[in-house]
Amino acid sequence: MDIYEAKKAYLDNKDKMRSELYEKPDLIYLFFELTRSCNEKCFHCGSSCAPGLGHGPDVEEFKAVLRDVKENLDYKRIQLCITGGEPLLYPGFAELLGYANDIGFRWGMTTNATLITKDVAQMLEDTGMGTVSVSIDGLRDTHDRQRGLKGGYDKAMRGIQNLIDQKAFRHIQVTTVINHQNIGELDELYQILDQMDIDSWRVIGIEPMGRALDYPEMLLTPDDQRRLFSFIREKRENQIPVNYGCSHFLGLEYEREVRDWFFYCGAGTHTAAIRINGDITACLDIEDRPEFVQGNIRTDKFSDVWLNKFQVYRKRLSSLCTECQECEYEKWCAGGSRHSFDYDNCKQRVCFKDILF
Ligand SMILES: C[S@@+](CC[C@H](N)C(=O)[O-])C[C@H]1O[C@@H](n2cnc3c(N)ncnc32)[C@H](O)[C@@H]1O
Ligand code: SF4
Ligand code: SF4
Ligand code: SF4
Repeated sequence: MDIYEAKKAYLDNKDKMRSELYEKPDLIYLFFELTRSCNEKCFHCGSSCAPGLGHGPDVEEFKAVLRDVKENLDYKRIQLCITGGEPLLYPGFAELLGYANDIGFRWGMTTNATLITKDVAQMLEDTGMGTVSVSIDGLRDTHDRQRGLKGGYDKAMRGIQNLIDQKAFRHIQVTTVINHQNIGELDELYQILDQMDIDSWRVIGIEPMGRALDYPEMLLTPDDQRRLFSFIREKRENQIPVNYGCSHFLGLEYEREVRDWFFYCGAGTHTAAIRINGDITACLDIEDRPEFVQGNIRTDKFSDVWLNKFQVYRKRLSSLCTECQECEYEKWCAGGSRHSFDYDNCKQRVCFKDILF
């Protein structure tokens, strides 16, 4: 069987699994949005975070969710994903994550790392953090300009070094969001990160969501997209641990070549999230619309909601879009990523048909 036939067989099988997961979802990633407050103000921020915005449910409320998940779901399969805003600004961070660790949860965090001093790295070890992903969005000047914090790059790099020096974490990753301006810095950035003792580099394209929607000129052009994917593929051919993120069906040429898995948007079947107001949803990157809120941890038991609601996510996204229904790749793509769908106009904003395949 040649490589394309093997990929087709895998994708066919994955499509069968999709139907099974709609019937019998399997929670693997549970996101807690601890805060929308942030010490940076990135122009592209998908959740429109900024200094002084609000924090999430209090520590006791989150602890109650953890107890419920432990009692009523297969919690050993679940990775707790801590994010924000800047999660380290959440009051009670150490208490909450120490508790999660004590009762047996695995947890990881995405952070801008500017607040990770040696003491904070020690606290992260003490509370059992396993994995961490740190945002670096370009060379020094670009990073600082895009993230709205002078000195942010140096602080983040020091933060990463403090994490490395701690020698306690299973996986330290850097995440870079590529846009039309910083794409030219990929090679230089690679040279810098290659000198550091990190475990992987996640390189993703800027997604049209949150504040990024105000900067259409920063989105990737078709040429940028092709350049990005060929960069990642080339690095991986040289055994460099670079991965593209979970988004978008990439076609037979690129599927499984730029990440370790095949496309599957797991929102609502593998992934659930709790927003800062306690709302229960499928993925924090999906537009916050009333029809997507499945419950609230202040009034509902998370496990009940996960097991009995979420129907809006447990059907093909393509059912909302005529173009997708008529597409020859629908079987493998199913309408693409839920976070980039335009729900007002029933259309996928990011589709790589005619760009990559
Ligand atoms: C929302 S942030 C929260 C954690 C932390 N404040 C940080 O920046 O790493 C999580 C990740 O989403 C990325 N992100 C934010 N907006 C995005 C967008 N429009 N497209 C792609 N990634 C985005 C950030 O760059 C970061 O890597
Ligand atoms: S991407 Fe992260 S660091 Fe940037 S404003 Fe959003 S939450 Fe803050
Ligand atoms: S909505 Fe987007 S970010 Fe969320 S699981 Fe799906 S592809 Fe990933
Ligand atoms: S048209 Fe829809 S189903 Fe086809 S590749 Fe694009 S997003 Fe996927």
